[in-house]
Amino acid sequence: MPRKRVAVLISGRGSNMASLIAAAKHDDYPAAIALVVSNRPDAAGLEHARGEGIATAVVDHTRFGKDREAFERALHDVLTANRIDLVCLAGFMRLLTPWLVGQWQGRMLNIHPALLPAFKGLHTHARALAAGVTTHGATVHFVSSEMDSGPIIAQAEVPVLAGDTPDTLAARVLEAEHRIYPQALRQVAGSKL
Ligand code: GAR
Repeated sequence: MPRKRVAVLISGRGSNMASLIAAAKHDDYPAAIALVVSNRPDAAGLEHARGEGIATAVVDHTRFGKDREAFERALHDVLTANRIDLVCLAGFMRLLTPWLVGQWQGRMLNIHPALLPAFKGLHTHARALAAGVTTHGATVHFVSSEMDSGPIIAQAEVPVLAGDTPDTLAARVLEAEHRIYPQALRQVAGSKL
């Protein structure tokens, strides 16, 4: 089976992107990271991707004002021009309209730093601590038009420890993210789309 061409969409640091790039270096991995796209020209992850010899693109959402669909059409054009099969959102901090989600139904994955359906949205680690949960974690799921919903592909649990701050908890969850995102992409790319 030919390797699926994957685009990773980022807005910042790109550590999940880096974990996908590292996994895709293995000969038996069913996906190749063909493109990294950022909505922010200064995203640190772009530099890492370039250093790995991966094509990068910037679609700066601020150039489109409030016109979300115009931004998404420009993004979609970049993806189709690069013959992308699968899209991985990896810290891509834009809400998507039903139009773009519909274009990539069943072919767009997201990683979220919580055990969905718990703690959708932002500031998940602080909210988990405030709620007093003893287990937290990360979820990879297919993107649907409702934010942080859609069929779950993989989850990993981590313990919440006494004395945790949002930062210490985030670091523990991030390790789990780096483990499950490559596994989830392997599973999706290796199956018949
Ligand atoms: C990750 O923790 C990811 O789960 C989260 O942003 C971080 C990006 O880090 N995503 C969301 O909160 C999406 N709602 P990274 O740029 O180092 O991968």
